[in-house]
Amino acid sequence: MPCGLCARIQIKLAGAIVTKVTQTVPMAKSEKPKMKTIAVYSLKGGVGKSTFAVNLAWASATLSARRTLLWDLDPQAAATFLIAPAAKARDAARAVFSRNVDPVELCCPTGIANLDLLAADPSLHGLERLLFELGKKKRLARLLESLEKRYERVILDCPPGLTETAEQVLNAADILVVPVIPSPLARKSLDDLVETLIRRGGKHPPILPVFSMVDRRRKLHAQALETHPDWPHVGYSSLIEQMGTRRLPLGAFGGQSLPAEQFATIWAAIERRIARD
Ligand SMILES: Nc1ncnc2c1ncn2[C@@H]1O[C@H](COP(=O)(O)OP(=O)(O)OP(=O)(O)O)[C@@H](O)[C@H]1O
Ligand SMILES: [Mg+2]
Repeated sequence: MPCGLCARIQIKLAGAIVTKVTQTVPMAKSEKPKMKTIAVYSLKGGVGKSTFAVNLAWASATLSARRTLLWDLDPQAAATFLIAPAAKARDAARAVFSRNVDPVELCCPTGIANLDLLAADPSLHGLERLLFELGKKKRLARLLESLEKRYERVILDCPPGLTETAEQVLNAADILVVPVIPSPLARKSLDDLVETLIRRGGKHPPILPVFSMVDRRRKLHAQALETHPDWPHVGYSSLIEQMGTRRLPLGAFGGQSLPAEQFATIWAAIERRIARD
């Protein structure tokens, strides 16, 4: 197939067809696979983004044996808390964006093979203003380019909402994983996101909705799953809650459990989806 041939990919999502035009560039046999960036993102807070980010990063590093970076972009630093008990706040996370610091210098091993962390710290509270003042819509995309030699997969844990940080993520990620808590409003929350992205204009990465904190005993959850049988899901689980006290990804202490299998299934779906681009 010649270089630069255009391919049209249609993503059916929440009733809307999102059409993306991509450049398909065949990879030479000797070429290394390109680094891919997976953002865990939602307009809503508390839906399980950090939980997904940590467990997908673990799956990438451990199940796929890929050199993986978990980049915590949220000043709340939940992903950092969950995976790096020894991390000390260095007030440097924002400096990466103002070009003072090479992101590679801030990437630290986590104790899990193949998995590094670029930790959040309180300096990220000023990130929104900094990004607004810089006015550079692709700052994060440029920073990610500097990580390409080192990592095959970067997982971004994003703060909720359509913030300046989210703008950067939408310009940089290869796929958006969007956790949704099942309810009759689940579809609406996805529709809201698609609406928001359409209103924002420009391109956006493909969206993979995933149900989070599913309790099949609840009628509304069961109905939501029936309505969207193609959305992968992770159940509500006390083992997942234990991540906060153990400060480990689920796979590190409950690898044989059902929710660990569910995260692994979702990771496999993500790998399949990004392999198509
Ligand atoms: N599948 C699950 N089962 C049980 N508890 C869960 C599950 N997923 C997430 N939680 C819990 O729900 C809470 C919120 O999860 P999490 O912090 O991942 O959400 P978030 O979307 O990142 O929140 P924020 O928008 O504040 O960043 C946490 O206490 C987490 O342990
Ligand atoms: Mg979070």
